Amino acid sequence: MAVKDILSDFPARKQFNYLSTASIGLVPNPVIEILKDHLITLSQGGTASFDEELEVLVYDNLRKEGAKLFQCNPEDVAVFNSVSEAMNIIAWSLEIDTGKIVSTAIEHPVVTYPWLRIAWNTAVNVELIKAENWCIDIDEFLEKIDDQTKIVVLSHVEYLSGQRFDLAPISKKAHEVGALIIVDGIQAAGYTPLNLEQWNVDVYITGSYKWLCAPFGSAIAYISKKLSEKITPAFVGWRTPEDMWNFDAVNLTFASTARKFEYGTSGYGVKFGLTESIRYLQKLGIHNIAAHNQKLVKLLLNELNTIKGIEIISPSTRGSIITFRIKDKPVQKVGQRLRNLERPVEMSIRQEMIRIALHFYNTESDVAHFVENLKKILNEV
Ligand SMILES: Cc1ncc(COP(=O)(O)O)c(C=O)c1O
Repeated sequence: MAVKDILSDFPARKQFNYLSTASIGLVPNPVIEILKDHLITLSQGGTASFDEELEVLVYDNLRKEGAKLFQCNPEDVAVFNSVSEAMNIIAWSLEIDTGKIVSTAIEHPVVTYPWLRIAWNTAVNVELIKAENWCIDIDEFLEKIDDQTKIVVLSHVEYLSGQRFDLAPISKKAHEVGALIIVDGIQAAGYTPLNLEQWNVDVYITGSYKWLCAPFGSAIAYISKKLSEKITPAFVGWRTPEDMWNFDAVNLTFASTARKFEYGTSGYGVKFGLTESIRYLQKLGIHNIAAHNQKLVKLLLNELNTIKGIEIISPSTRGSIITFRIKDKPVQKVGQRLRNLERPVEMSIRQEMIRIALHFYNTESDVAHFVENLKKILNEV
């Protein structure tokens, strides 16, 4: 399956110039069909269409597909409902009460809040490295990881600037001082080839509804075997034991793999959705998606660099996100005009900057359409 062959799976492309995957990704038609199917058969058939075996399989299959994405063993994958949930479960299960957590001051709150909350009742100190123009100096970041550090936690790709971190040297420094590295990969997974075991990260969490092109309501996490064996889940439920169908209310036992961090029923339909969307992406090839997205990002950057007054924030090591300021122009008005075009441009405005996200369902003509209209609008506002 080649990128050019899949555009018809995203009919909304005709209606919009969709450059907003860093907020919400589009779901391909074949995945929508599976979601509809599940909703109808479950709603109309109950246990006749969704038996105990299938209830186990939903998560088993998602863990298998997640493992292909992460390049790891399915036993080291756990299924959650959101990145926030996964981050909190891991954070509280670590039972940290002293030492330092190192992160950055430009993270999405999902990354920092659980640790800030833990610091309320403990002697934990959260150190958030400041950014220069929304970007982090990696040498300064590495310097802050010292022998007091227990956890290093950051995004693989930053949600605002698109800055991408090389995880291997960060893991190396963290492990040298005995700390763990926990990564939020929601802005990277889906277009970035991942090799978590090689990079030696301890936890890598990603969510369904952006670059993985699935609906809201699922997240998956890689939790290294070494870490998973050492910690006990802070939250438990009927799915916690090895055999979730044993219904033993007296003895609390845990599954022997990362599955032990899962605890209850959830929106199973969206788990089917994420499983299918990962299969869809794998068919396209994450390397092919990465090459496609990088080509579009370069094209966009070249075009933006020719427009007077535009200051690009995204650094040279970046994901598929390009963010820029427009000097002396009312950015909200520019955004409104872009959204009011005959073929509206969907993008995000964050911190008075325009954030553009380019994924495999975008084309060179989407970039051209955006740039052409942006230039026109900038001459008029
Ligand atoms: C870096 C990052 N992490 C997490 C999230 C969202 O997490 P959740 O799955 O809890 O909605 C976002 C959403 O914008 C994000 O940009």
